[in-house]
Amino acid sequence: MRVIQSGVGNFGMSWLYAVRDCNVTEHVALVDPNPEALTAAGDITGVPPERRFTQLKDALNSVDADGLIDVTPAPCHPTTSISAMEAGLHVLVEKPIAENMRAAQRMVQSAREFDRILMVTQQYRYQDQPRTLRRLISQGAIGEIDHMVVEFQIQGLLQGWRKIMPHPFLMDMAVHHFDMMRYLIGKNGAKITAQTWNPSVSNTAGDMNAFVWIEFEGGARVNYSGTFAAPGVDTGWNGRWVITGSKGSLVWNQRDEWGPIRLFRQDADLSIYTDQHFFTPLPDIWGEPIHAESIGASGHTYDLYHWQACIEKGMEPETSGRDNLNTLALALGAVQAADTGQTVDVRRVGAEREQEASWMAKWERTVPVAV
Ligand SMILES: NC(=O)c1ccc[n+]([C@@H]2O[C@H](COP(=O)([O-])OP(=O)(O)OC[C@H]3O[C@@H](n4cnc5c(N)ncnc54)[C@H](O)[C@@H]3O)[C@@H](O)[C@H]2O)c1
Repeated sequence: MRVIQSGVGNFGMSWLYAVRDCNVTEHVALVDPNPEALTAAGDITGVPPERRFTQLKDALNSVDADGLIDVTPAPCHPTTSISAMEAGLHVLVEKPIAENMRAAQRMVQSAREFDRILMVTQQYRYQDQPRTLRRLISQGAIGEIDHMVVEFQIQGLLQGWRKIMPHPFLMDMAVHHFDMMRYLIGKNGAKITAQTWNPSVSNTAGDMNAFVWIEFEGGARVNYSGTFAAPGVDTGWNGRWVITGSKGSLVWNQRDEWGPIRLFRQDADLSIYTDQHFFTPLPDIWGEPIHAESIGASGHTYDLYHWQACIEKGMEPETSGRDNLNTLALALGAVQAADTGQTVDVRRVGAEREQEASWMAKWERTVPVAV
């Protein structure tokens, strides 16, 4: 697949290597308004200077390509991705798909109109451990999910546009965990309540800490605490998960070297107990360590294979733009809940809000942005 990559900044780097090293993709052009970033990206990929562009339209007008990978900051995603689809390219766009619901809906509408595959890179779910967890859950290993407790904690010092964006934690980081919740539960969000704040160790203008409570369709509840400005304990990027169902629990902690996934079954027939009873000790208080099966390619490489296969077969990707509106609704719903102090109906997120002027405009005054 011949790919144009737009945005070759920090995270764009990881895509340069992923596309270069994947056997179904090759870079045919690079786009970035920053000439130094373009030169560095050209050196890594071998894309010659005449196919390195500071404007996307120049690349679209002069290079034959099948797809575009959009690794620009979120406020640029709608213009960049829609221009590419209009020019006949399929699009793999970084998360968050857009910074507001209307812009994301326009992207999904364009994919329909131009009959292109639009996929979002929510690569957290494309790893061995969540795939195994999802299989266990759907096979009924813990019965029906009742609730999840999810903790995420990493010390982040952010740079560039993230220092001025509103809600950098919810929109730029937690969106991965919201997508993972949807994937593991297999349902979309219904109601959301949130509080956010900015701790003294944060270096951003927007809030880096959040407590979020979500009710999913079907009734499963999630208690999520996340911080991107937390000295000390580091949970790793996936966070720590305790998933409790009607027949037991699954614990997922990538930092636990005794077993990142453990299954705690509660197989007892509760109807035989007539008196007050507490099920301790369980047969095995450490649970049953579960070995996650390998899915082969993971992360970016899985994204690339999946995107390419969907294009070839005319299938909708698992994390299509259309599907991803439900993930964005959780992130935006949390923002709205935190800003208003109200519980938000996730299914109505974006419906009553006019598109706001992008905060990116402030950043654009100091940084050239090209489309
Ligand atoms: N999936 C993940 O785990 C993950 C991790 C980090 C970042 N991201 C996402 O990747 C995207 C980029 O993040 P980043 O950390 O690389 O940001 P960055 O600021 O380091 O890089 C962005 C690059 O895009 C360029 N750019 C800006 N406007 C452009 C335009 N209109 N056309 C082409 N290039 C343009 C900038 O010059 C810069 O080089 C964001 O959406 C971010 O949320 C995803």
